[in-house]
Amino acid sequence: PVLVVDYGAQYAQLIARRVREASVYSEIVPHTWSTEQILAKNPAAIILSGGPSSVYAEDAPQQDAALFEAGVPVLGICYGFQAMAQALGGTVAHTGAREYGATTATAVGGPAASILAGSPGSQTVWMSHGDSVVEAPAGFEVLASTETTPVAAFADDDRRLYGVQWHPEVKHSVHGQQVLEHFLFDGAQVEPTWSTGNIIEEHVQRIREQVGSASVICGLSGGVDSAVAAALVQRAVGDQLTCVFVDHGLLREGEAEQVEQDFVAATGVNLYVAEEKERFLTALAGVTDPEQKRKIIGREFIRSFEAAAEEVAKAAAQEGEPVRFLVQGTLYPDVVESGGGEGAANIKSHHNVGGLPEDLQFELVEPLRTLFKDEVRAVGRELGLPHEIVGRQPFPGPGLGIRIIGEVTEANLAVLRRADAIAREELTRAGLDDEVWQMPVVLLADVRSVGVQGDGRTYGHPIVLRPVSSEDAMTADWSRLPYDLLARVSNRITNEVEEVNRVVLDVTSKPPGTIEWE
Ligand code: XMP
Repeated sequence: PVLVVDYGAQYAQLIARRVREASVYSEIVPHTWSTEQILAKNPAAIILSGGPSSVYAEDAPQQDAALFEAGVPVLGICYGFQAMAQALGGTVAHTGAREYGATTATAVGGPAASILAGSPGSQTVWMSHGDSVVEAPAGFEVLASTETTPVAAFADDDRRLYGVQWHPEVKHSVHGQQVLEHFLFDGAQVEPTWSTGNIIEEHVQRIREQVGSASVICGLSGGVDSAVAAALVQRAVGDQLTCVFVDHGLLREGEAEQVEQDFVAATGVNLYVAEEKERFLTALAGVTDPEQKRKIIGREFIRSFEAAAEEVAKAAAQEGEPVRFLVQGTLYPDVVESGGGEGAANIKSHHNVGGLPEDLQFELVEPLRTLFKDEVRAVGRELGLPHEIVGRQPFPGPGLGIRIIGEVTEANLAVLRRADAIAREELTRAGLDDEVWQMPVVLLADVRSVGVQGDGRTYGHPIVLRPVSSEDAMTADWSRLPYDLLARVSNRITNEVEEVNRVVLDVTSKPPGTIEWE
């Protein structure tokens, strides 16, 4: 792999993704790893990420010079660039010349075949640093400088060591990807072999090795991750896998059918559907507090899943292949965020199937542990999953239960389901599914307002539209949907859903509002 050494900035994941976009497999390792540990992974190349520290700070992570003497090509970025300069005898100083944001870097010569080959002599780059390299280490040629930073990029083509002060991984660095690719393909001469086909082949092999002839169970949530994980395991071990789908009655229109029909049609997977609507509605009767709703739904979900798992296990035991494994759709960012890379605990994995308890007596199969979300989608597509599953917008585990402000009853669910189906249909028809991160539709069951329809007074409930744009759901902004679309949605909902006489738009960003209303 190409290893990205994480110095603690949020850029390491971005670097790893950009490397993979260049069809090269990359992994993130913490800076606390020793040079021996890093070299033991047999890296084709190493990239040192940016970081929040000053190389002078008391506890600043240092880079041991031995890493640069191992013959492995290295690219240092920002803090990594400075750490490299310092380790090899260059000079890093507090010059007082800070640079933040877009800056112009000007080429000052250097070897033609190096990492700036093909970039214009003067290019816009994204900077974020306080210290500067003022003198390159012996053997290095300076490739570029900026108005305030004399050494903004350097290279030692003989030892295949390179560095840039700016952040080539962010899109604001206009030729950033080109710099990374020159490093990978000219400097380090790695082969671009990371493709969706390879990912699938490799994981199928690994899953077979892990699972042998044992039986495997997988909880389907209706979301992308569990669907792709299941499809991958199914590709590897076929009938040994049984998927469990808990229908809690809080799903949107067509969703249970999507899992039961489309997913099974695309994969041929064994599906066990647990019909648990009664159980959930009974447990939720009379409850209006959001946290209490979430707790009840979580608890009932676990009970349902455990009961279903027992049924599946019984059937498997009769066939002589007891269930030993549980599939989880844990993604790489979860792994990195919960302690990173090697041997990271399953800290977050139970979030993925709606909060399964850790004491379920199964070993985990986590086929998406090394993948980013866009790669998961690509794998799903290649495995033949329909766009309706792979391109799905996020939907919360507790479902419509937390989109009814007030009591979750069969009647309220029916109203919300119809309004939501109309809103989704119109959004899709307008071709905006990919632009909008998600659009919760919320029923204010506790609120009524006066309206007029036909000749009569109405006293109905409002529906809230909450379309948001976001990168990762941590922050979000409300989507500026076209007025025409909003008008159509509003017209149709108030015409077609009798109980609703008003449609309102939520124009709050996150923060201060969360995406969901409960
Ligand atoms: P909030 O409302 O916290 O939502 O801004 C952030 C993202 O998380 C989704 N969400 C959930 N997903 N189980 C889930 O699987 C949950 O309990 C849950 N609650 C919120 C929400 O839809 C948004 O994408």
